[in-house]
Amino acid sequence: MNSIEQAKKFDAQDSLASFRENFQHQSNEIYLDGNSLGKLPLQAKVDLQKAVDEQWGENLIRSWNDHWLELPERLGQKLATLFGVSSEELKVGESTSVNLYKLTHALLSSELFPKNLLTDSLNFPSDVYIMEGLAKQFKCNPPFVVSYKNDLKADLELLKREIKNQPGIICLSLVGFKSAYLYPMKSLNVFAEENNSIIIWDLSHAAGVVAIDLKKSKTKIALGCTYKFLNGGPGSPAFIYIQKKLIKDLYSPIQGWFGHQKPFDFSLPFIPANNINRFDAGTPHVLSLIGMEAGIDLCLKAGISDIQKKSQDQTTYLTKLIESKLVPMGFKIETPLNSQERGSHITIAHDESWRVCKALIQGINGGVKVIPDFRPPNYLRLGIAPIYTSFTDLFRSIERIEQIMTTKEYLNIDQEKPKVT
Ligand SMILES: Cc1ncc(COP(=O)(O)O)c(C=O)c1O
Repeated sequence: MNSIEQAKKFDAQDSLASFRENFQHQSNEIYLDGNSLGKLPLQAKVDLQKAVDEQWGENLIRSWNDHWLELPERLGQKLATLFGVSSEELKVGESTSVNLYKLTHALLSSELFPKNLLTDSLNFPSDVYIMEGLAKQFKCNPPFVVSYKNDLKADLELLKREIKNQPGIICLSLVGFKSAYLYPMKSLNVFAEENNSIIIWDLSHAAGVVAIDLKKSKTKIALGCTYKFLNGGPGSPAFIYIQKKLIKDLYSPIQGWFGHQKPFDFSLPFIPANNINRFDAGTPHVLSLIGMEAGIDLCLKAGISDIQKKSQDQTTYLTKLIESKLVPMGFKIETPLNSQERGSHITIAHDESWRVCKALIQGINGGVKVIPDFRPPNYLRLGIAPIYTSFTDLFRSIERIEQIMTTKEYLNIDQEKPKVT
């Protein structure tokens, strides 16, 4: 287990290993931040270049009919396939934050569920801010934020108790951004339904790396971003899903022309589309959509079950390395040790995590650079994107952290933080 030869052996046995060649890599750099921003698929470069040169540069307005109008639908279809739903129920567009606003607004405006907002302390702050803002707008109580012993793992009994106490509209991140804790999606959906509640699932840290069947898991509403494990590119459009039978009762707060049943009839009054498109507002972000297709195609080609299986193998491998090499140096593993309870990053804590993170990114004397990220208070997140991360990458990264600790290299590094850590 503890040797580079063993890591290479695992790579040689890996059926997804060849997918790595589809991405751009930097020499002597190991990228462990695909949980924040995925790598660039080489095909995305080709697609974007072609779109700029030919579709925008030459074909101009004609490209709407020739290429662009069908784009959101095609990508929606591909993501619908990934999540096991119909393309009538899933669409791409805008950001996760905006989509959460629209969906929560739609639920609060309906009479489907009590107007109690609930989330938990593991959720991504933007999601909580949005619910807080909507509570003010709708003059209802601020969201109840269930707090656990720590911000690493949900206490499911406590969460269920609170849902029972105040049934309503719940928002949870399927994979928590700090520890990668993975919720039991189906059993919580069933529990919510039995208690007159609905869960809006934020799939941002799960999409492209956890096998999610939105139908089988009885999910009614979900959304998420595509720039992490789906490798869609910086700021690539997010997606939303609404179970078919709910769509007719939900309305977007932004009644824009792309949400109209027939936008190009230019007719008054507004008639909402009878499928998920009613949540569209304006002109789609064409270049961003073009940039995100290659990443989704690669995910579908590799197969989400195989990707998740490799993620579980690699996160297990990484935790074993950390236990044997870094725990004796004072690091603590904050991600669940059970592979069924985690997504695809391993979070380790240490008082010097930030300076270790900086040392990893800087590299030393032409040595390897490792790119992880840092989250307060002292978490170093090591992201694994099975579609391009190798076992050798993981072994060499741990070796490098060991080196930083034994040589105390981090002591020469200042504590200053850039905006994005
Ligand atoms: C779980 C989760 N939800 C929401 C967001 C916000 O996404 P966006 O900035 O694309 O709206 C993020 C961003 O990283 C996230 O990780």
